Amino acid sequence: MHGQSEAKGDWAKFLGTWLKHPGAMGAIAASSRSYCDAMVRAATTHLDGPILELGAGLGVVTQALLRAGIAPERITSIEYDREFARELKARFPNVNVIQGDGLDLTETLKGREEERFAAILLAIPIIRFKPDERRRLLERYFERIVPAGNLTQLSYSLTPPVKPELGAYAVSSTPVVWANLPPARVWIYNRVGDGARSRG
Ligand SMILES: C[S@@+](CC[C@H](N)C(=O)[O-])C[C@H]1O[C@@H](n2cnc3c(N)ncnc32)[C@H](O)[C@@H]1O
Repeated sequence: MHGQSEAKGDWAKFLGTWLKHPGAMGAIAASSRSYCDAMVRAATTHLDGPILELGAGLGVVTQALLRAGIAPERITSIEYDREFARELKARFPNVNVIQGDGLDLTETLKGREEERFAAILLAIPIIRFKPDERRRLLERYFERIVPAGNLTQLSYSLTPPVKPELGAYAVSSTPVVWANLPPARVWIYNRVGDGARSRG
């Protein structure tokens, strides 16, 4: 997907959007290739079912999913920013790109209530929400994931953005990816007691 000039253009688009909406962007630059690959390796994409990506930006994680051999038709990518969503549709015509709110799947995935995802890859910055809201959000996401499926979260946070909940879900992480700007790790959430395991 990326030539050198496209990568430079993406940098400018990302930074420009961050200047307008710093809270919703959460990062001044797109995630690095090694970081996106780490996220995809940690996600339970080997399970049956579609894959849901939330906060796709300009598609670096989408691209990593495709690099891992996942069929584009399996991927649904939700992005709130209209320009980014338009760009994603042009770049990934066979991915199901939806311009909408990834925090409200009831509305954004209307008509797909019965669908269960093999994995959800979350890049929406939820750290700005109160801990209780983050926990409730995670619970709602888990309702949409197949048994043994996981939720992976892109975050620069040094501690898990959603704390593990005894008897409900466990949290682990990949090692820090130092090549990312800033260095970050992928947080991995698994339901407790459903046989789930990290792939990291
Ligand atoms: C940190 S960037 C991540 C972009 C890309 N996935 C990456 O790793 O570089 C967060 C993205 O989430 C999007 N976003 C923020 N709030 C959102 C929401 N409620 N629903 C969908 N996307 C949202 C932003 O527009 C931005 O593209």
